Amino acid sequence: MRDFDVIVFGATSFVGKIIARYLATHYSQQENVKWALAGRNLDKLNSLVRELPSKHQTQPELIVADVEDDAALLKMCNRTRVVLSTVGPYSQFGEPVVKACIESDASYVDLTGEPQWIKAMLDNYSKAASESQAKLVNSCGFDSIPSDLGVYFLQQQSQLHFDKPCTNVAMRVRRIRGGASGGTIASMLQLVEEMGRDKSLRKKLANPYVLCPPNHGMSVRQPNIKKACFDSHTKRWIAPFIMAAINTRIVHRSNALLGNAYTDHFIYEEALVTGKHTKGAMTGWMTTLGLGGFMAAASVQPLRRLMEKYWLPKSGEGPSEKAQKEGFFDIYFYGETDAGDTLTVRVTGDKDPGYGSTAQMISEAAIKLAKSEKLQSLPGGFYTPASCFKDTLFIPLQEHAGLTFEEVEHRAAKRKH
Ligand SMILES: NC(=O)c1ccc[n+]([C@@H]2O[C@H](COP(=O)([O-])OP(=O)(O)OC[C@H]3O[C@@H](n4cnc5c(N)ncnc54)[C@H](OP(=O)(O)O)[C@@H]3O)[C@@H](O)[C@H]2O)c1
Repeated sequence: MRDFDVIVFGATSFVGKIIARYLATHYSQQENVKWALAGRNLDKLNSLVRELPSKHQTQPELIVADVEDDAALLKMCNRTRVVLSTVGPYSQFGEPVVKACIESDASYVDLTGEPQWIKAMLDNYSKAASESQAKLVNSCGFDSIPSDLGVYFLQQQSQLHFDKPCTNVAMRVRRIRGGASGGTIASMLQLVEEMGRDKSLRKKLANPYVLCPPNHGMSVRQPNIKKACFDSHTKRWIAPFIMAAINTRIVHRSNALLGNAYTDHFIYEEALVTGKHTKGAMTGWMTTLGLGGFMAAASVQPLRRLMEKYWLPKSGEGPSEKAQKEGFFDIYFYGETDAGDTLTVRVTGDKDPGYGSTAQMISEAAIKLAKSEKLQSLPGGFYTPASCFKDTLFIPLQEHAGLTFEEVEHRAAKRKH
């Protein structure tokens, strides 16, 4: 028996506060879902609770824990079925939380978009996790739930219509509006810094199967959109999508963990649609150059320090409430089977992807993991959203988290008789 279903660790982070507000609004009575808030600073936790919306709520319990205090972490993890951690950059602060969850058989969800850290955790803790009851699910925010569950949904529809999976899937971000927080930027800069320190890391992360378990059996070359180009799926210009670096790795890991359900020659890529004609091409090239320029500047230490000081959001800062409400995303997945059947599905979100929508997604993921007997009885280990939740999250995400998953069209190829 545990005191809580979910403890939000890092509740005073920019995204943690949005998660706390979401839980206080939708799960305020603490009857069906018992949740608590945790962080390293009690004063900050107290002032967060004072700002929470519902007056009728049972006040959530507050727990103080610092990632540098193993005993406090273990005590916290022992009290809950699931730890929802937003304490990032994860490559800086995440490891002790993973370790404590495994030691206390608590399950875990996070928002990491740092493939190098996921890889290190897989290398160092897979064995211990598999000997525990802890189900650890990385990347339960905008990266990578829409991509991972979007592909899973497409494959379900493909089985339904064609009795076979799509072996080639292109994800296109058709429309998106949102911003970045201090923690997200810090995580990106952390990766750039680590790649500067360790030259072999760039090569390691360039492997699309870097997060797949050993003997995954996949070797097909994967496309990688590095610059603006014209796209045959959308008949529009596209540019690199910044989240593709993590999303594609998670989707391939899901395929591997699902027993190569999308086949061993599955091809997957992601891109951002920038528009039609000359304007679309120009936006595509500006996006390509902007992204390349940002990464190049971030890899030069003095420039990175200047950007951090004068331009980029600091820890605790991020898009305004208005921007979160007005944000959205609209993503299409274009799939094709080996026989030439085609299928298009669409995933949308009703708030800004990185914060409003992410807070809703990870909250529902944590609650589902805590409350579902089926998920609780899974073996311990590291999962992806699709390999853990499979189709169990589609209803909560659509009923509570403002997401939609829908089929747009399917066309069977003409068969030869
Ligand atoms: N995947 C996605 O879609 C997505 C979306 C949004 C965010 N993220 C990720 O989520 C993470 C949080 O982002 P954010 O902007 O919300 O971060 P943030 O505002 O910078 O917050 C960082 C949090 O870490 C806590 N922390 C730092 N050191 C700690 C320690 N020693 N012990 C315990 N807690 C400690 C901070 O506590 P204090 O409050 O006491 O300072 C704060 O709550 C980042 O890694 C970001 O990349 C991912």
